Amino acid sequence: MRFQNKTAIVTGSTKGIGKATAKLLAAEGAKVVVVGTTEEAGHAVVDEITAAGAEAFFQKTDVTSGADLDALISAALDQYGKIDILINNAGIGGSLANLDQITDEEWNKVLATNLTAPFQLLKRVVPVMEKAGGGTVVNVASMASTGAGRGGIAYTTAKHGILGLTRQVSLDHGHSGIRINAVLPGPIDTQMIARILAMPQHPLNLKIKMSPSGRPGLPEEVAQAIAFLASDESSFIHGAALAVDGGYTIF
Ligand SMILES: NC(=O)c1ccc[n+]([C@@H]2O[C@H](COP(=O)([O-])OP(=O)(O)OC[C@H]3O[C@@H](n4cnc5c(N)ncnc54)[C@H](O)[C@@H]3O)[C@@H](O)[C@H]2O)c1
Repeated sequence: MRFQNKTAIVTGSTKGIGKATAKLLAAEGAKVVVVGTTEEAGHAVVDEITAAGAEAFFQKTDVTSGADLDALISAALDQYGKIDILINNAGIGGSLANLDQITDEEWNKVLATNLTAPFQLLKRVVPVMEKAGGGTVVNVASMASTGAGRGGIAYTTAKHGILGLTRQVSLDHGHSGIRINAVLPGPIDTQMIARILAMPQHPLNLKIKMSPSGRPGLPEEVAQAIAFLASDESSFIHGAALAVDGGYTIF
């Protein structure tokens, strides 16, 4: 049990990669705070976790709301007394709009969710972890973190930004026991890209076919990489960007 006596916050864990991660961490001993905006889905994930004999509770949170983030940290500390692990996973896709097409509203929403929210959570959680002697953070970045043409302008910008955030916080806080790393998923079979995966002739699917794996990934496969970076198994890994993409980005 890699996460015995550990507590973890997993944002966006009502479905997809976040849900798979919450379930995996809990199955390996962590007490998990399931975080999302949808009450019904959040409670359903908690029910799955507790039915398997592990511990979790749901905290309804819009990660773009500072008040909600304050309430999340308070609830985690009230319930479990500490925060050992933070998984910054919540994210939205946005459109493929370019500079001519994107609205300020879309830009602001994608940046707020995918970049500012992880920053705001780090601001709140890192001091709590430091006071307790340390902790681990995994930021869910993307194949769009290292190249253009894998998302719209706002998504690409936000996902590039989260790598900078990961590296800078890693440098600034490593000496006080904080390890922070990023995973860069490729195309993963979740609701976020389900519409695209359903179009066989879409360029993404043609490129997936040419990649070494020849298929989209499963949320559980990303969860395994996140769990590794959140665990002591990765004790000498700081500020890394781990691609979990079936080889999609090597060509
Ligand atoms: N699916 C992919 O192909 C893929 C590829 C690269 C990166 N990612 C990243 O992985 C992460 C998870 O995505 P997914 O594929 O599981 O998508 P998903 O749509 O299945 O899940 C996203 C989760 O984030 C939550 N969320 C969104 N906005 C939120 C907000 N304001 N407050 C709280 N929760 C919010 C959703 O409720 C949901 O639980 C995202 O950061 C995404 O950018 C996904």
